[in-house]
Amino acid sequence: MLLLQRSIQVTWPLRVFFTEDVFAAGHPLLREVLTDPAPRQLLVVLEDTLALAQPQLAEMVVAYFAPCAPALRLCRPPLLVAGGEAVKNSQSIVNDLLAHIHRHQLDRHSYLVAIGGGALLDVAGFAAATAHRGLRHVRLPSTTLSQADSGVGVKNGLNAFGQKNFIGTFAPPFAVINDFNLLRTLPPREQRAGFVEAVKVACIRDAAFFAELEATADRLGAFEPATVRRLIHRCAELHLDHIATGGDPFETGSARPLDFGHWAAHKLEQLSRFRIRHGEAVAIGIALDVLYARRIGWLAAPAADRILRLLERLGFTLFAPELLQDDATGHHQILDGLEEFRQHLGGELTVTLLRAIGQGAETHAMDPALVLAAVAELQQRTPAYEPPDRD
Ligand SMILES: NC(=O)c1ccc[n+]([C@@H]2O[C@H](COP(=O)([O-])OP(=O)(O)OC[C@H]3O[C@@H](n4cnc5c(N)ncnc54)[C@H](O)[C@@H]3O)[C@@H](O)[C@H]2O)c1
Ligand SMILES: [Zn+2]
Repeated sequence: MLLLQRSIQVTWPLRVFFTEDVFAAGHPLLREVLTDPAPRQLLVVLEDTLALAQPQLAEMVVAYFAPCAPALRLCRPPLLVAGGEAVKNSQSIVNDLLAHIHRHQLDRHSYLVAIGGGALLDVAGFAAATAHRGLRHVRLPSTTLSQADSGVGVKNGLNAFGQKNFIGTFAPPFAVINDFNLLRTLPPREQRAGFVEAVKVACIRDAAFFAELEATADRLGAFEPATVRRLIHRCAELHLDHIATGGDPFETGSARPLDFGHWAAHKLEQLSRFRIRHGEAVAIGIALDVLYARRIGWLAAPAADRILRLLERLGFTLFAPELLQDDATGHHQILDGLEEFRQHLGGELTVTLLRAIGQGAETHAMDPALVLAAVAELQQRTPAYEPPDRD
């Protein structure tokens, strides 16, 4: 037998900048981040809903880069594309983006700058990662969820075969710019959806942050900007710490420690045909796993109650009828989420639960009867359940 073996080491900087009005004339940040010794091209992709909500934005982008040519040259005015979960359910936006990258002859040293919510960033990130095997991808997340969580990570994804993020790559972004002023037009329902990722990461990693969220819950509920910004900053910091120091940035093992509450959440999103937003589904998924952890004796009852109460104070409904959806044989479909979660990584089922607030712990099996008992408890707790408006 012959064997050649080498070790490959690659180091990526993962940079998240926090600022306001990044496209204001004279704001140096983006120009400095994109500056290179050689002239570079950039394609800006802008979510259409955001362009509609902030009608001056597209023109500001053009005006911002005009004085930068030829060092930095916009290959066309911002490309408006649809956003929201629907764009992840087909490959058509990816194909459009790849066609634009081809048409404008962008290369590996060019930039694809994407401005929008987590769904659009996932799609744009996939196009950027696969064109020429990787362009420089710069993200400007425009939702609380994407500024606090999805936009600052190293993954992208599309849904396929009825499964969330079946297609996707690990591809660290060239840079992330969290512009807080992009959030000013975000509807309340979307603002709130991002808070849950902060509750999630506080539950598994940081008891002091959890206490801070409890103390500021009313201000968060009123979307007080300084409090929302602090939540985003700390949540992004905990995610970055995990990616940089957790030892498995590309998730080659069987565990997804930051996906607390997500096995049920991903299934709920799918069962509801995405009526339930990612953040709303995660709130229910956390509540379910919290009650489950209490039932198996891992989590003390007062701690479980604190978590459920915080989620409710932040405005989340902790039950959805899809939790009870069964098939012709009476099998509860929510339980399939466990196997789909396992399959996504392969290997042994690994679900993060809690031993205490701030202390996540892994389990490799969940008892279906206890999961369903937790579902029943959530239903009882939410007697006046009303489905949120479709919008
Ligand atoms: N890649 C990852 O690591 C990762 C991690 C967690 C979640 N995600 C993904 O992120 C997605 C959820 O992202 P999201 O919560 O940002 O939702 P989203 O992208 O669906 O955006 C929510 C809604 O807000 C609108 N919107 C966005 N910015 C706006 C603004 N500033 N003003 C007005 N409207 C605006 C959008 O058009 C959309 O209708 C899910 O697909 C989820 O799977 C990815
Ligand atoms: Zn999430």
